[in-house]
Amino acid sequence: MSTPDPTPKQDAKPRSNGGRYLFMLILGLVIGVVATVMLLNALNARKDKFPDALMEVQGWHMGQLKSAMEQNRCAATDALPHLQALRMTSNDLEAAFPGLKDDERFRNAASAMRGAVDKAIAAPPLSCESLAGTMKSIGDTCKGCHRDFKG
Ligand code: HEC
Repeated sequence: MSTPDPTPKQDAKPRSNGGRYLFMLILGLVIGVVATVMLLNALNARKDKFPDALMEVQGWHMGQLKSAMEQNRCAATDALPHLQALRMTSNDLEAAFPGLKDDERFRNAASAMRGAVDKAIAAPPLSCESLAGTMKSIGDTCKGCHRDFKG
């Protein structure tokens, strides 16, 4: 004969909701991350990429000139292509920053850069010493504009 269990099996432990809360928390975090990424992408797509792109390109050519100098490759043929690229891209400064192009200081800064690069192309650097001087005079015009206009 089976004696009934004196302490009938009850659901002794109340069912814990911990697992469910954790799941909801993780789900919330995942949704939050996905929404944030979508929002950033949307904002980024609306942003005009041209100004930063132009600046990156100018920065790249200045970097190429610097590394040419460091490798002691300072013939006019080493520097000229980069100087020409800097000269051509400096034509686009006003177009790239339409909000600034009516500011006289901005236009002067853009002209100063074109002037400095014109000078460098008219008398291309023939030694690393003169290339250093050229880079200084061009770099000063970058800094001149950035001082006033780069956030
Ligand atoms: C006439 C103005 C002007 C001149 C000249 C100029 N820049 Fe800029 N540059 C700007 C402005 C304005 C910004 C800030 C852009 C922004 O925040 O979107 C900037 C930003 C930059 C940046 C950062 C780009 C980024 O993604 O935020 C680099 C790199 C740069 N410039 C390189 C140069 C170099 C190298 C030169 C010179 C060869 C130069 N710039 C000349 C106006 C100028």
